[in-house]
Amino acid sequence: MEYTVKSGSPEKQRIGCVVAAVFASRTLSPAAKTLDKASGGMISNLIRRGELEGDVGGTLLLHNVDNTLCDRVLLVGCGKEKDIDTKTFRKINAVMTSTLKASGTTEVASFLTEIPVKRRSLSWKIHQSIEAIDATLYTFNQLKSEQKPPRRPLRKCIFSVSGRGQLAEGEEAVRRGMAISAGINLSKDLANLPGNVCTPSYLAKQATNMQKQFPKTRVTVLDEKDIEELGMGAFMSVTKGSRQEGKLITIEYRGGDKKQKPIVLVGKGVTFDSGGISLKPGAAMDEMKFDMCGAAGVLGAVSAVAELQLPVNVIGVIPTVENMPDGSASKPGDIVTSMSGQTIEILNTDAEGRLILCDALSYVEKFDPAAVIDVATLTGACVVALGEHPAGLMGNHKPLIHDLLKAGKNSGDRCWELPLWDDYQEQLDSNFADIANIGGKAAGTITAACFLSRFTKKYHWAHLDIAGVAWKSGKQKGATGRPVSLLVHYILEHLEHKK
Ligand code: BES
Ligand code: MN
Ligand code: ZN
Repeated sequence: MEYTVKSGSPEKQRIGCVVAAVFASRTLSPAAKTLDKASGGMISNLIRRGELEGDVGGTLLLHNVDNTLCDRVLLVGCGKEKDIDTKTFRKINAVMTSTLKASGTTEVASFLTEIPVKRRSLSWKIHQSIEAIDATLYTFNQLKSEQKPPRRPLRKCIFSVSGRGQLAEGEEAVRRGMAISAGINLSKDLANLPGNVCTPSYLAKQATNMQKQFPKTRVTVLDEKDIEELGMGAFMSVTKGSRQEGKLITIEYRGGDKKQKPIVLVGKGVTFDSGGISLKPGAAMDEMKFDMCGAAGVLGAVSAVAELQLPVNVIGVIPTVENMPDGSASKPGDIVTSMSGQTIEILNTDAEGRLILCDALSYVEKFDPAAVIDVATLTGACVVALGEHPAGLMGNHKPLIHDLLKAGKNSGDRCWELPLWDDYQEQLDSNFADIANIGGKAAGTITAACFLSRFTKKYHWAHLDIAGVAWKSGKQKGATGRPVSLLVHYILEHLEHKK
């Protein structure tokens, strides 16, 4: 999709469709009023007759409105003018997009940028619109034998701004919105691929290809021999149960100066999680192809940062494996030695994410990071605790937690802190090793983070458990591209701080 910004009056837009807001109940937005006036009261007449109340979700598509230069006018219900929040604003844009798509409109001028959203700027609205529009248009058809591209696809959207003085702000917002949206789509595409296509080697190849697209990135891939030599016994204990070779992928983007410490993003890349010998039950097991959404999110975020050429150093590190039951797979009770030297008793082979992450978290010490954020579909318990709205957030550094919570609110891609108290640590006690890989039934999301915390003492660290937010189940099954937006907002806001 192509996005631009423009200032101008709605009746003067020579374009397929002009979109304007109607508030509840039956109140015209400024753009709708202007169109109404030009058409000699046509719109207010229809509204008075009850054609559109202005509730969220309602639409009215008009053709050949008098004294306008556009083919169509689409009125979109926005609810009460004072109540429009992030969620409603995205919903309104999604409704607009699906209506336009069904109508066969190819070019649109949206005046939804003029509607007030509490405490939000023009650039925020443009940015959110792009994410919502692209999310509505997203499809994943690459593996269907017949590709049916829409006959007349929506391909251009112009955001209206109130004057020439707002063009610069609008254009910058378009640039950011498009970069983040492309990162989200990259993340969704990788995650939606099935486990027989998207293997650890496939992820490594995709990361390597990113170097061509973004010259300031450098990708290195370690294979099992290298990983073994680094002493990553925990990582190896998972990958040895699969015929696919595990990899440790590093993608470095150096946009800041040499001395600037990097932000390190670590993404769980389990391309399929069968549970291993502690085999999962069959129902919905297919969804465990999404167990690499942390990795996909990290690649999406790094790609957006690289696309924007931000003056920052960001390093993505992705431990990627397949978790399978096999003659050589780890067994419950096995004890392995991690890269840190700590020994781990594997009481459940399905708690594999923390085993590959802990070695990756030791590995990233060598980058002398400003902060490390790991992103993982780590626990089913997180879905129980928080559902699909926020990601679970824990860490060892208050300011980092604070900044992530804030970036979550600003991006609409939210997270929520759970208490990472020392009180929970004893649940990981083992009779035979330094630490057990599971902590019992209670507080499973927190004990998983407690496990990781044993490997992150040397730097500022936060952990995002994205098990509930990374994909949707049911009829709309598919990856969401979260938390790309959250991560990129965090990095953008981190840069603002430093100015
Ligand atoms: N990838 C799963 C977590 C998961 C499960 C995410 C369902 C989303 C939906 C993870 O590897 C796992 O299996 N965790 C176990 C941990 C348990 C054995 C302590 C879980 O959550 O059951
Ligand atoms: Mn598992
Ligand atoms: Zn898993």
